[in-house]
Amino acid sequence: MFGSRVLVFILGCLWLTEAATNTLNHGDKLNLSDSLVSQNGAVSLGFHRQDYGRYWDGIVSGYYLAMYYTGDTSLNHSIWLANRDDAIADDSGVLIVDDTGLKINRTDGNPIQLFSLQSTSISISSSDMKLVLHNSGNLVLQSTDTENGENVVLWQSFDHLTDTLLPEPMKLGVSHGRRMLLTSWLTDSIPASGSLTLEWDPVGNLLVVRLRERVLWSTGELLSDLNKIYNFTYVSSPDEQYLHYTIAIGQFAFEENPRLLFRHDGSLVLEGSRLNITGSNTCDGNSTENGCKRWEGPKCRNKGDKYEVRSITIRPTDIYSTNNTLMGNFSLSINDCKDICWNDCNCLGVNADRELGCQFLSGPYDEGALDGMSFQVIIRNRSKSKTWIWILISIVIALTIIVLFSTLFYLRRRSRARKEEKFLLDLMTSEDASDIRELQTGNKGVCQVPIPMTELSRVTSSICL
Ligand SMILES: *[C@@H]1O[C@H](CO)[C@@H](O)[C@H](O)[C@H]1NC(C)=O
Ligand SMILES: *[C@@H]1O[C@H](CO)[C@@H](O)[C@H](O)[C@H]1NC(C)=O
Ligand SMILES: *[C@@H]1O[C@H](CO)[C@@H](O)[C@H](O)[C@H]1NC(C)=O
Ligand SMILES: *[C@@H]1O[C@H](CO)[C@@H](O)[C@H](O)[C@H]1NC(C)=O
Ligand SMILES: *[C@@H]1O[C@H](CO)[C@@H](O)[C@H](O)[C@H]1NC(C)=O
Ligand SMILES: *[C@@H]1O[C@H](CO)[C@@H](O)[C@H](O)[C@H]1NC(C)=O
Ligand SMILES: *[C@@H]1O[C@H](CO)[C@@H](O)[C@H](O)[C@H]1NC(C)=O
Ligand SMILES: *[C@@H]1O[C@H](CO)[C@@H](O)[C@H](O)[C@H]1NC(C)=O
Repeated sequence: MFGSRVLVFILGCLWLTEAATNTLNHGDKLNLSDSLVSQNGAVSLGFHRQDYGRYWDGIVSGYYLAMYYTGDTSLNHSIWLANRDDAIADDSGVLIVDDTGLKINRTDGNPIQLFSLQSTSISISSSDMKLVLHNSGNLVLQSTDTENGENVVLWQSFDHLTDTLLPEPMKLGVSHGRRMLLTSWLTDSIPASGSLTLEWDPVGNLLVVRLRERVLWSTGELLSDLNKIYNFTYVSSPDEQYLHYTIAIGQFAFEENPRLLFRHDGSLVLEGSRLNITGSNTCDGNSTENGCKRWEGPKCRNKGDKYEVRSITIRPTDIYSTNNTLMGNFSLSINDCKDICWNDCNCLGVNADRELGCQFLSGPYDEGALDGMSFQVIIRNRSKSKTWIWILISIVIALTIIVLFSTLFYLRRRSRARKEEKFLLDLMTSEDASDIRELQTGNKGVCQVPIPMTELSRVTSSICL
């Protein structure tokens, strides 16, 4: 009994020593059954199946060459992926270091070439090439320069960030012309590149979250809050401008599995800390609090307009109240949809229940029903300045109308008076006029003129006084 336990223990140790290698040499292969483990055991690399939790791109899961914190249970989220935008359909993936460089072979599809020897001008002996997984989480393909015998780095995972920033020596920024930024996953469980990026702006000393071109959020003064958790340092030289961090162990942070994870909704998770930092996930298009940026847009979007979640119902007769033209595009997440809608003056909101693809609201709807669909609706800002403008416009219109009518009235009166004068003048010069004169002289102020009744009163007043 005791003996068999020892045997199991010894076998276990043998298995461990064999499995726990951090190096893949030239000619070696790594398949689904194997993994690389960093020397201190903290980081491991291997092929993993990722369940999408839904049907996406024709499949429900895909295989990825992924790096994890060994035994990481809190986030269950890789710290790096080699092939996030080119999933392997089955378990056939094999990582190979050979004369062509570093690649992943698979039965279904072309090999995924991570590094090609043809792309370098350095003369190295390919048989010296080896892939090493460092304790820092950097996967490095290295060799020796045949000219000077020095160690050269041919390729490293730290140059190809995914959505996770690890402590120093990983860099966020620009290094020797290479831009390093974080790109969110498409959803919580689909690793494909999403539309949100987190980058370091060396000019403004800011961390910036972008939705394609649109700036959603930036750290500003929050960077000092972040520094309570991780100790961020900005490094600037002619060749490099980047941010990196060390763990400032203390009140808010502890050493276990540190990482800054940039999630698909734009929030930042600081694993290994006791604080959460509000990210761009709380921004509504108007708010400028907690680092949020106000959204610019076409003229129809006013200052103060913003997104709010509302419960929406659409009557069966209003079939054109939704626009489903982009509903089948599963490269679009809710953030993309909100951006597209904001830029389209006919769009009133987007369906917030859809994880991928856009359903726009573009016509009459009812609000507030308990069983309604959840929509992010653009709430238009009816600001006071607007009301004043309308009051002003109304006053101006009223005044214009009054002035116009008075002028018309005056002109009419004048032209009427002119007509009368002309009429009288005609009377005076005509033969009838002598009758009038006779009448005037004869009957002393009594006017008896053979003129139409309508003209009578006026003629009397103007002549007989
Ligand atoms: C991985 O390779 C080993 C030998 O190199 C083989 O025995 C094993 O079946 C392979 N596993 C898979 C999943 O292909
Ligand atoms: C972690 O992911 C694996 C595979 O994707 C899944 O089977 C497991 O339930 C997940 N664990 C947790 C704690 O979410
Ligand atoms: C990998 O695939 C290429 C072509 O698809 C093939 O030539 C090569 O032999 C494969 N390598 C291994 C180790 O299976
Ligand atoms: C932060 O990092 C810098 C450089 O990496 C170091 O000089 C400083 O002592 C660190 N501060 C803390 C509080 O750890
Ligand atoms: C931080 O956010 C994560 C994910 O939203 C949550 O699970 C965790 O409880 C939060 N931690 C703290 C300390 O608020
Ligand atoms: C828009 O944002 C500004 C600044 O954050 C705030 O003062 C204002 O109340 C917001 N307007 C609306 C309608 O939420
Ligand atoms: C539907 O939405 C798309 C994308 O915003 C837009 O280009 C198109 O004009 C809309 N169609 C209708 C009928 O509103
Ligand atoms: C889906 O949307 C993306 C991003 O706008 C676009 O590049 C792509 O062409 C669209 N795909 C289809 C099938 O419409």
